[in-house]
Amino acid sequence: MSSTTLDHGHAGHDHHPHGWRRWLFATNHKDIGTLYLIFSFVMLLIGGVLALMLRTELFQPGLQFFEPEFFNQLTTMHGLIMVFGAIMPAFVGFANWLIPMQIGAGDMAFARMNNFSFWLLPVAGLLLSTSFFVPGGATAAGWTLYAPLSTQMGMGMDMTIFAVHIMGASSIMGSINIIVTILNMRAPGMTLMKMPLFCWTWLITAYLLIAVMPVLAGAITMVLTDRHFGTSFFNAAGGGDPVMYQHIFWFFGHPEVYIMILPAFGIVSEIIPAFARKKLFGYSSMVYATSSIAILSFIVWAHHMFTTGMPVTGQLFFMYATMLIAVPTGVKVFNWLATMWRGSMTFETPMLFSVGFLFVFTMGGFTGLICAMAPIDVQIQDTYYVVAHFHYVLVAGSLFALFAGTYYWLPKWTGFMYSEKLGKLHFWSSLISFNVTFFPMHFLGLAGMPRRYADYPMQFADFHKIATIGAFWFGLSQLIFLVAVIRAGQGKGEKATAKPWDGATGLEWELPSPAPFHTWETPPTVK
Ligand code: CU
Repeated sequence: MSSTTLDHGHAGHDHHPHGWRRWLFATNHKDIGTLYLIFSFVMLLIGGVLALMLRTELFQPGLQFFEPEFFNQLTTMHGLIMVFGAIMPAFVGFANWLIPMQIGAGDMAFARMNNFSFWLLPVAGLLLSTSFFVPGGATAAGWTLYAPLSTQMGMGMDMTIFAVHIMGASSIMGSINIIVTILNMRAPGMTLMKMPLFCWTWLITAYLLIAVMPVLAGAITMVLTDRHFGTSFFNAAGGGDPVMYQHIFWFFGHPEVYIMILPAFGIVSEIIPAFARKKLFGYSSMVYATSSIAILSFIVWAHHMFTTGMPVTGQLFFMYATMLIAVPTGVKVFNWLATMWRGSMTFETPMLFSVGFLFVFTMGGFTGLICAMAPIDVQIQDTYYVVAHFHYVLVAGSLFALFAGTYYWLPKWTGFMYSEKLGKLHFWSSLISFNVTFFPMHFLGLAGMPRRYADYPMQFADFHKIATIGAFWFGLSQLIFLVAVIRAGQGKGEKATAKPWDGATGLEWELPSPAPFHTWETPPTVK
């Protein structure tokens, strides 16, 4: 091999790809982080439009716009797109941007695999989104894809299975990258117990992902072979058991819930100290609490199945195990409150979203406890109470933390400050409209309104009307976020200083020089 070939692509030479090639062939963690964030926001908008279509149909009783079959396709795709397309990739985007900088590494460990992890996602997203247009339409089995529905539906289901497989592969590769980066590439002196909490929460999340994504892959592969290859895993007539699908799915599904919230805990754990101008209270207890939540998440799955005819001993076990998770979660909430206690607090947008997170997410936590109690759960199973609960956790939890983190690190990412006016408007508009949308759903659920129904009797009309108005308001509020971010990205704000949040104690600002922007063709050597 000639020396010119060897030289080709060395950093410092003018071989950085430009234009679209910069993105398609991106190997540096910042560009890939940006790609993840843009992709996830696009999916958030698509999933959001589906949600607004649902809310439009539900504005009044009767069927106005969509057939029930199509309505079910909308609920299913809304869930799948939000979970696998919006929330999870957004956190991976944060991981890419932040982890190398926070631990003082030059880049992610496997730069090319990082590129592959990302570019699998648009393929899967496209496959999933376009399944609406095949004969039979998208799958209508619910985001949980329960058998025996999923074993009998049209080819939209096959596209969904393929898409979920691809997204799972992407997540597993992303997780391997994160674990190897954190364990091998920390700067000298950066011991594990000195890492910023975002890195800790992602390290634990990555292990969860590697443990459970293959379980989901197994479940949907069994559905696939039941559909096309004559097996009867979930077919009672052939000796199988449809309830077994639920066990396998929720062995993935419950840890998945924590995959979507632990990195949010990490983000909030860095923002609250910065704006309270105090160190995080109870750093090591935060690490242990996060690990405990992750471990416990493996032994609670059947709390989703209290109505499937479980023995009472089983119900009791899963009830108590689930309620146990409130202990480490409580540790976290009290640590955040103690961090704020007697701090010199200011309430810029990132802090507003973090405090909003703390307040509203904790409400979702409490309704989670209520759902965990077996005798109550049999009353509210598959009602809007559950819908309200998990939207408090995923929207006011995961999504609000993502907004908080975006405003917090945007100056670092773009070099410019966002408009504080737009940020605050976005926060208050989102917080109020979120509650207008989802708070009435508790009442709907307690009154017996089932989830995934296109129609309902008159008694539910008022709360549904309020929820629909709130949903459109919430949807429109996100355009403020879009404008704020684009303006900062275009350099239309104040220039950001090296320490945009003056007096911030977040470790990430104190680190030695961050990564060089382009590491094209030169993945850093592992220590
Ligand atoms: Cu669960």
